[in-house]
Amino acid sequence: MLSYAGRTAAPAAQASPVRVGGFGGVAGLATYLRDERVTHLVDATHPFAAQMSAHAVAAAGHAGVPLIALTRPAWTSVAGDRWTRVADVTGAVAALAGPARRVMLALGRMHVAAFAAQPQHHYLLRFVDEPDTLPPLPHHDLVIERGPFDEDSDRRLMFDHRIDLVVAKNAGGSGASAKIAAARALGLGVVMIDRPAMPPRIEVHDVAAVFDWIAHGVPSGIQRGV
Ligand SMILES: NC(=O)c1ccc[n+]([C@@H]2O[C@H](COP(=O)([O-])OP(=O)(O)OC[C@H]3O[C@@H](n4cnc5c(N)ncnc54)[C@H](OP(=O)(O)O)[C@@H]3O)[C@@H](O)[C@H]2O)c1
Repeated sequence: MLSYAGRTAAPAAQASPVRVGGFGGVAGLATYLRDERVTHLVDATHPFAAQMSAHAVAAAGHAGVPLIALTRPAWTSVAGDRWTRVADVTGAVAALAGPARRVMLALGRMHVAAFAAQPQHHYLLRFVDEPDTLPPLPHHDLVIERGPFDEDSDRRLMFDHRIDLVVAKNAGGSGASAKIAAARALGLGVVMIDRPAMPPRIEVHDVAAVFDWIAHGVPSGIQRGV
């Protein structure tokens, strides 16, 4: 059973059954795990979905269900990167203090409103779905597009919009890394938001290790999250 929060209007079709919507906190998820006789819980949420991940650990504990987290390795800067690392979205907003620039907010729509505190910039936004209400940013362009994206098209997008700074979350892995490579190729600064802390849990980076864990109780390549 795949569980979605329900944030996108038309999620990609899946071969497995899907349920959509919150569980109602830790208690709701623990009840779901018991009622559905779930034997294994795999947390495959985005690394910034900190509340869901914390709930999953707590609910798995209450229901006595083993849990594993499937995560993407975080990005680390390489030669040519011009990153300013910040702890969270508040830190990213603070890092934008100063004269007007042309900023690509590669964050998804959930955190865009916080950037209204720095209204002097021209923002480029990219969302999966058309939003119901306009983002509260006085100067912005909005692109509606579903990833994954490639480096060439992200470089063209940044070039065409005369972007001089990118704000991104350290999602990690390859699916969302095109914008980071594009910023590097164009010599652009990146305000990189570090991942939120997660509770201790077994963590692996590939699907095969999850299947190992389901089959044998022990994943290959296991890492203990901190
Ligand atoms: N945060 C990001 O940057 C980001 C980026 C890309 C994709 N996503 C995906 O978008 C979803 C929501 O992210 P978020 O940051 O809003 O989460 P969040 O802040 O950690 O969770 C907020 C609440 O949303 C519900 N929820 C989250 N993920 C769920 C899931 N897979 N199935 C059922 N309920 C879920 C839970 O509600 P209840 O307490 O009622 O159970 C949870 O308490 C996640 O599945 C995440 O993987 C997030």
